[in-house]
Amino acid sequence: MTRWIRTAALTLAAGAASAGLLGGAVVYFGWYDVTATSPHTAPVHHLLDIALARAVKTRAAGIQAPDLDQEARIQNGSRLYRAHCVQCHGGPGVAPQPYALGLNPAPAALVATARLRTAGEIFWITRQGIKMTGMPAWQYRLTDDEIWDVVAFLRVLPALSAEDYRRGDDGQRPATPLEKTAPAVGAGDAMAGRQALQQYLCVTCHAIPGVPGAWNHVGPALDRMGDQSYIAGVLPNTPGNMERWLRSPGTVKPGTAMPDLGINEQDARDIAAFLRTLPDGP
Ligand code: HEC
Ligand code: HEC
Repeated sequence: MTRWIRTAALTLAAGAASAGLLGGAVVYFGWYDVTATSPHTAPVHHLLDIALARAVKTRAAGIQAPDLDQEARIQNGSRLYRAHCVQCHGGPGVAPQPYALGLNPAPAALVATARLRTAGEIFWITRQGIKMTGMPAWQYRLTDDEIWDVVAFLRVLPALSAEDYRRGDDGQRPATPLEKTAPAVGAGDAMAGRQALQQYLCVTCHAIPGVPGAWNHVGPALDRMGDQSYIAGVLPNTPGNMERWLRSPGTVKPGTAMPDLGINEQDARDIAAFLRTLPDGP
C-alpha cells in the first residue's frame, strides 16, 4: 500500500515537473506566438474568457447602481462615450479607429455587451480595465459618477439606430423617444406567436428552432433572435422595431428579399414575443 502511494506520488511529481519544463521551454525558446496578428490558441482563448467571466461575476456582485434613467446622465454618457470609447469599440454604423482594428483580443461591440451584462458589471469593467487586452482602466481618468453616466448611455445604446447615434455627434439627444430593449409587460403572447408563424410562410424561408418544417435558409436562421442586436442589420432589435419589420420589411429596408406578408398588428406582436424567447423558446 505504501509502495503504491509512493509510486503514485512519484508519477504525479514527475508529471508536474515535465509539464513545468515543457511550459518553461515554450516560454524560454519563444515558441508561444505573442504577435497580435495571430489569435490565441483556442484553449488559451477559452481559458481567458472563463477567467474574465468569473472575475467579473464575483467582483461586480455587490455593486448598487444609481438611477440610470435620468436624461441628464444618458446625455452626459453619450458625450463621454464619444470622447473615450467609440475609438476602440465603435458604435451603430461607426467603425473603430485603425489602431483599434489591430488590437488582439479585438474590442467587443458594446451594443452586444450592453444586452448581456448587468449595469454593475459594465461599471466594474470600465472602472478597473482588463489586463493584457488594451482595455484601459478609467478609474483615474473619470469620476465614478461619470462612469455611471457612460453605463446609463450604454443601456440605451442597443436601441439606437445608426442615424439616432449620429445625431448625438452634434450634441443633440441621441434618440427620441428612447425605446428600451427590455420587453414591455403584456407585449404579445409567445405561444400564440409560434402558432401564427405557421400561417405566414415564415417556415418556408427561415430555420426556427422548435418549429416543425422550419429548416430553410432562404433568409437568415432566426435561432438566436432574442440575443441579436439588430434586425436585418439595420433596425435595433427592440419589441416595437420587430413589429415594424414583420409588418413592412420593404419600408424598413428597401430592396430586401423578405416579402410583406400582410401580418396584422396582434399577430406581429405575438410573433415578435416568440422571437424574443429564442434560442430557448417559450
Ligand atoms: C484603447 C482601446 C479601448 C478603449 C479606448 C476602450 N476600450 Fe473597452 N475594451 C477594449 C478591449 C481590447 C477590450 C477587451 C476585449 C473584449 O472583451 O472586448 C475591452 C473590453 C471592454 C468591456 C467588456 C466587454 C465584454 O463584453 O467582454 C467593456 C464593458 C468595455 N470595454 C467598456 C469600455 C468603455 C465604457 C470605454 C470608454 C470609457 C472603453 N471600453 C474604452 C479596448 C478599449
Ligand atoms: C420568401 C421568404 C421569406 C419569408 C416568407 C419570410 N422571410 Fe423573414 N427574411 C427573409 C429574408 C431574405 C431576410 C433577410 C432580409 C435582409 O436582411 O434584408 C429575412 C429576415 C428576417 C428577419 C431578420 C433576421 C436577422 O437576422 O436580422 C426576421 C426576424 C424575419 N425575417 C422573420 C420572419 C418571420 C417571423 C416571417 C413570417 C411572418 C418571415 N420572416 C417570413 C425571407 C423571408
